Amino acid sequence: MSQPLRLGIAGLGTVGTGVVKIVRQKAALLTERSGRSIEISAVSARTRDKDRGVNLSSYAWEDDPVALATRDDVDVFVELMGGSDGPAKAAVEAALKAGKDVVTANKAMLAHHGQALAALAEDNGAVLRFEAAVAGGIPVIKALTEGLAGNDIERVMGVMNGTCNYILTRMEDGGLTYEEAFAEADALGFLEADPQLDVGGIDAGHKLSLLSSIAFGTQVNFDAVELEGIGSVTIEDIRQAADMGFRIKLLGVARMTGRGLEQSMAPCLVPANSPLGQLQGGTNMVVIEGDQVGQIVMRGAGAGEGPTASAVMGDVMDVARGLRVSTFGRPADSLTEATPARASTPAPYYLRMTLADKPGALAKVATALGEAGVSINRMRQYNHTDDSAPVLIVTHKTTRNALDQALVAMEATGVVITAPVALRIEEV
Ligand code: HSE
Repeated sequence: MSQPLRLGIAGLGTVGTGVVKIVRQKAALLTERSGRSIEISAVSARTRDKDRGVNLSSYAWEDDPVALATRDDVDVFVELMGGSDGPAKAAVEAALKAGKDVVTANKAMLAHHGQALAALAEDNGAVLRFEAAVAGGIPVIKALTEGLAGNDIERVMGVMNGTCNYILTRMEDGGLTYEEAFAEADALGFLEADPQLDVGGIDAGHKLSLLSSIAFGTQVNFDAVELEGIGSVTIEDIRQAADMGFRIKLLGVARMTGRGLEQSMAPCLVPANSPLGQLQGGTNMVVIEGDQVGQIVMRGAGAGEGPTASAVMGDVMDVARGLRVSTFGRPADSLTEATPARASTPAPYYLRMTLADKPGALAKVATALGEAGVSINRMRQYNHTDDSAPVLIVTHKTTRNALDQALVAMEATGVVITAPVALRIEEV
């Protein structure tokens, strides 16, 4: 039997506690599967005296995560503290410099410092793994780096923030306003300490930037992700999109185009009967399209103790088995600096507006669209309220530039009472 693999775990919140439980409760299974025993040497957290529901007495305690990361009896530093900078980054850097392998769930740290950390890992002969950072329990990093390694990846899409999907689902099935659904998610403890990370699309944007890097061989560039949160999605749009056969999702889409790398995380419409459209509640879904494999759909829990600890343990087991894959699936110095491109691959759009109820109003809107080269696919006018009429339009595929031109021209007609809402329809 090989030497035991000794872990040092920093961060004993939900995920850290989950990892300790798996190591303790599944010791025999983990040994059978990896050929070595998985042990915990030492742990670290902000507070020592707290009942976490697991027995930590046999592990050494370190107040300082950097000291934990560099202990002689730690082979793998498991970073579950979070935060893009500060102690998490300092400890990960210290571990890598000491030649120790690192497993982390820290999407913010990798989204901001992934390239430098990947290079540091390689310089020191260490591996840096992060399955738990993207889509919780779904093994999407492993799928992209290993199972799909023989493909050119064409598009990566994902609903990767369970809280946003929960809010949007409750707006649709419970008829709640955004504010009511947000309050419900808050009461259930779903929101991050800074809710903007969830509803502003930042958390999901971090995840998309990591997937893009692996999929397209590019350096992580979170700043280039076009971000739009769900705060402006209204119950009217949810209802009327549903009426036209769509659901609204906070959808991440990354694709490499002739103009550069498109990365967008924004509310989009998807067909209600598609796998993405069917995704309910706090669940995540990642869709990958490769030139050989076609479309792969992976669905599962994006957060929570068991699913996230499961992903951490997948990485730990790879290290135990001696699998050493580069952080982003290829050597850090071969990752290219992609030109960021505005997401403008032609797509159909959903438009909702309120028009003045007078002769020629609709004709003026149709003319504005036509003159910008935007063709109408479907159109619906609802019951008039007072002297205005709500109108929905689904366009044929068009570029965002042409659409923006049409929106400006529409405003100038004087018949549009409320600024049109325009949402991309992602073909899936
Ligand atoms: N807050 C995230 C979510 C989980 O709601 O999916 C951690 O990334």
